[in-house]
Amino acid sequence: MINGPDERQKRRTFFKACMAVIGGLISLAMAVPLIGFAISPAFRKVSKKWVDLGIVDLLKGSRYKKINYVFQAKDGWVETNKKRSVYVTDQGDGNFVVYSRVCSHLGCLVRWDEGRDQFFCPCHGGVFDSAGNVVAGPPPQPIEKLPVKVEDGVLYVKES
Ligand code: FES
Repeated sequence: MINGPDERQKRRTFFKACMAVIGGLISLAMAVPLIGFAISPAFRKVSKKWVDLGIVDLLKGSRYKKINYVFQAKDGWVETNKKRSVYVTDQGDGNFVVYSRVCSHLGCLVRWDEGRDQFFCPCHGGVFDSAGNVVAGPPPQPIEKLPVKVEDGVLYVKES
């Protein structure tokens, strides 16, 4: 059987197509891990950190003491310093309660009203009792009590 120019052209086209497919597969095999590496931080869950609130001895007897702090938050590729504040109360038995200031309604910052012994949210009039339970207004849930720990005489709160 004699191969004519048409047969050779078909074979050449076939081999070019095979090489293109193989090249494409190799490129894909190399690209998938690289793309995964590049975009994975966006899907990674933000890890919560323990943040130093201060020396326990200095916080003893605190009653709804407002403490401001700054912590480093990593969100995807971006690492930023975020400011937060909480209310710290000494339970008197060596334990502390740390209240988030974020209102459970739409996230405004609540304030402790010493005279009324209540938390008050200025945005829509949400009121919480001294334990953080809803007393009035639209908030659907109590104020969040944040996880705390004492280590080496220092009070830490788990950043939410
Ligand atoms: S955000 Fe606090 S009551 Fe609406």
